[in-house]
Amino acid sequence: MRIADMEGKQELDAKLFQGAQAYTDDVPQASEVGEIQNPIKAGVIKPEQVVEIGNSLLDPTLGRHDANAITIFDSTGIALQDLAAANLAFVRAKEQGVGTQVDLCRPIRRSTMKIKDFGVEQWMNEYETKAKYNLGETCVSSLSIRELCELVGVDVNDFAKQLVDRRLTYGAIEGAVELKEAITRLYQNLMPDEIVTEHGAIGANNLVLNALVEPGDEVIVVTPTYQQLQSIPEAIGATVKLLPLKRENGYLPDAEQLRGLVSDKTKLIVLNNPDNPTGALMSQAGLQTIVNIAKSVDAYVLCDEVYRHLTQEDGYSPSIIDLYDKGISTSSFSKVFSLAGIRLGWLATHDQAVMKACLSYHDYETISCGQLDEMVGTLALKNQAVLLERNRGIVRENLKVLEEWVHQQPHITWLKPKAGTTALLYYDFDLPSTIFCDRLMKEYETLLVPGSCFDIENSLRIGYTFETTHLRDGMNQLGKFLAKLEQEAR
Ligand SMILES: Cc1ncc(COP(=O)(O)O)c(C=O)c1O
Repeated sequence: MRIADMEGKQELDAKLFQGAQAYTDDVPQASEVGEIQNPIKAGVIKPEQVVEIGNSLLDPTLGRHDANAITIFDSTGIALQDLAAANLAFVRAKEQGVGTQVDLCRPIRRSTMKIKDFGVEQWMNEYETKAKYNLGETCVSSLSIRELCELVGVDVNDFAKQLVDRRLTYGAIEGAVELKEAITRLYQNLMPDEIVTEHGAIGANNLVLNALVEPGDEVIVVTPTYQQLQSIPEAIGATVKLLPLKRENGYLPDAEQLRGLVSDKTKLIVLNNPDNPTGALMSQAGLQTIVNIAKSVDAYVLCDEVYRHLTQEDGYSPSIIDLYDKGISTSSFSKVFSLAGIRLGWLATHDQAVMKACLSYHDYETISCGQLDEMVGTLALKNQAVLLERNRGIVRENLKVLEEWVHQQPHITWLKPKAGTTALLYYDFDLPSTIFCDRLMKEYETLLVPGSCFDIENSLRIGYTFETTHLRDGMNQLGKFLAKLEQEAR
């Protein structure tokens, strides 16, 4: 965006809103509009009433003030929420008999879009360091570099020497080749140049979404999910359609519903498999169904796979990119390899156009990842079998412990997770989940994430894959709190 354009726009805005203040003040925000409909298609506004839909930034001469007409400006493509807001303003103005001219000049631009607060991350930031029993953690019991070396049979002093002797240049911009070669072994047919490293999976998701999604694009997001996967496309100005996972369907996406949601305009379908928070795992056949639907409209599929391989049963877990050339896999060292502190992740895709777009954006936001982090990551992935065996052992053992506890609790129900590191627990007290978790923290020093962070009330997200004794201690505290709530309810 050129500065000159911005200045031009402000003048234009002032001019347009001057005449239209009475109507535009009252325009609801897109979130209040509910089901967003194109009012022209719905027949509420006749095309001839829309005198101009145009780019006010690039062409400041646009903007006639015809009575009985609607002027809609949109700098980056037609945004349906603007049309819907215009529709409501139009109808309201007519009802009040104050004329029918509505000037809307609400350009959608990345740089000015306000992103929603990240519910889970804010909750964790607030309480993580204060909690004595942290059941909010989603990593499999984290490792130190010393523990990693011991596990994989490397002399820690030799490795430390390699770290301290490394000259700290930027390193390989797209990721160290040795590391990328090790990453390819997590997939079926992947080449190192189909991978780019990022700052955690959060960085990889951010990169893909910003590189691919344009304002006005249609994006379908399977929810509940890791919030950035929904909030970033929304903030970019995409039309985000949600596909909610239901408990009665085992928290697996409903293919029929997805077929009803996709259209020729769908650019991207976003999944998280295995899913955080539900612990659901899509089978190869389930993923293939999603791929077939995506293919029918030529859409990309982004699958956040940070919990992939953390399964309750043996066997290869397919990645989206094993099944679809327009698939994009994001992942990291944080959960599966217990190394969140190196802040290292990656994206992988066979699609060259996506890779090109991502590399271009990567130059702006990342340059490269830290060389020391990549050295630690390479050591871990060269020994991926050892780490996977350790971590699958932990997730399986601890899920048994959690299951036993759930079965003893009269006020808790759940759907036992199939994979990942988290589960949703439902309680039957009439208490909002943020108040539940706030009291649990204050009265029992125990941290859980409220279901409200995922828009699922009367539920709690528990992470269960750290040291087993810590899990037992935390669940004991939770049990005491549930007993207290029962007393209070009497
Ligand atoms: C589904 C999902 N994606 C991404 C992330 C971010 O992970 P990373 O540490 O790799 O940035 C998380 C962290 O909780 C997550 O649950």
